[in-house]
Amino acid sequence: MIIAVDGPTASGKGTIAHALAAHYALPHLDTGLLYRAVGRQVFLAGTDPDDPADALAATAFPDSLLDDPALRSEETGGLASRVSVHPAVRRALFERQRGFATQPGGAVLDGRDIGTVIAPEAEAKLFIIASVSARAQRRFLEMQGRGIAVTLDAIEADLAARDARDRTRAEAPLVAAADAVTLDTSALSAEAAIAAALALVEARRQR
Ligand code: C5P
Repeated sequence: MIIAVDGPTASGKGTIAHALAAHYALPHLDTGLLYRAVGRQVFLAGTDPDDPADALAATAFPDSLLDDPALRSEETGGLASRVSVHPAVRRALFERQRGFATQPGGAVLDGRDIGTVIAPEAEAKLFIIASVSARAQRRFLEMQGRGIAVTLDAIEADLAARDARDRTRAEAPLVAAADAVTLDTSALSAEAAIAAALALVEARRQR
């Protein structure tokens, strides 16, 4: 079974994908990490994230970069969003994601275009959403927990800018697949969101 979990930043899709993978004993790929690694590689190389050739060159990042804690920073998230608009970057990362999705036994992938581009045949497609304020609040608490000094306003502005870029890009924009079920986690705890996601996947499996 392939499970596609798409949605904007801090919607809860990573937590949900992780829990679904554990529940069904399936391997899980956080595809945002690949784009984050490209963004980080551009930063390390001192090249331009908005230049298609520079961004494409950064897709040859070493696998060890995937373990770099700096991938989780807001700065890298912003760079990831900028490099991800280039069609050549998306093409370069396609096979890796497609191969993961189609491995024997199935997989859980989370990202922006899993249900639409990477695995349109996925048996279960979830589109996870939450209000900007709920997502900003979550990110704020997470950053505070990690001892990073940020303001709620700055996080909200950053999330809104990233959403706009992800939704309006020409190639593989953030959009729910026609056959995806949408889950709004704004008012849900992590446990409640996981339970709701599990119920939706089970309902799909029964069909
Ligand atoms: O999900 P995460 O915040 O880690 O993703 C970082 C950025 O990578 C997103 O803002 C988005 O622009 C890009 N991305 C993408 N397609 C994916 C996963 C992430 O374009 N499948």
